Amino acid sequence: MRKIVIAGNWKMFKTQVESKEFLQGFLPTLEDTPSNREVVLCVPFTDLSILSNSLHGSRIQLGAQNIHWEKSGAYTGEISGAMLQEIGIRYVIVGHSERRQYFGETDETVNLRLKAAQNYGLTPILCVGETKQQRDAGETESLITTQVKTALVGVDQNNLVIAYEPIWAIGTGDTCEAKEANRVIGLIRSLLTNSNVSIQYGGSVKPDNVDEIMAQPEIDGALVGGASLEPASFARIVNYKVN
Ligand code: 13P
Repeated sequence: MRKIVIAGNWKMFKTQVESKEFLQGFLPTLEDTPSNREVVLCVPFTDLSILSNSLHGSRIQLGAQNIHWEKSGAYTGEISGAMLQEIGIRYVIVGHSERRQYFGETDETVNLRLKAAQNYGLTPILCVGETKQQRDAGETESLITTQVKTALVGVDQNNLVIAYEPIWAIGTGDTCEAKEANRVIGLIRSLLTNSNVSIQYGGSVKPDNVDEIMAQPEIDGALVGGASLEPASFARIVNYKVN
């Protein structure tokens, strides 16, 4: 059975005070959320500890936005699996396009980070996706295939979520058409040995398009940036409607 995973990626937004304010508005909206939907918040490192305390026993799972592959060491600015595990973190985003674009993340470092996450019992959310230029050049399929295959060498597909995030759809309001997202996600699934891996769509998911996206047969969830920052909009996404 494929699990439905709806995750917010707060990126570099929200101080501790702001994150607690968010929770006050958001938690009550989960009362009627179907229990088979996993709700995840991937927040900045500084918010993890405080939210971990506040969310103990709640149905929200916490995720980090990065993890280093070494146990410890002289890696200024990085965070280890043990540090995340100690405070009850369950998920970690790996290989987000912003990390690839601005911080030199490659398919090889993504692979190392995925394995580190699994070694510490965390579920990595592997992000893949093409640029507009690559899409226009007809390279989407080959690029996604390389990203998935290289990232997954030696990775356990029983503890993994993948997010298809076309870069041109991130933060632009220019959502990938639901059927096209479904097609690419089907391609990703065909590359896996475990067809039960949950595969999310990410890129301008909003309250007004989430129902259509989630109605697609291959799409098992969403990775949500901007619309996860506000309790009412993220609540509408988590409580998407099924026809
Ligand atoms: P937006 O939902 O703001 O387009 O961001 C998507 C994203 O990058 C989630 O990881």
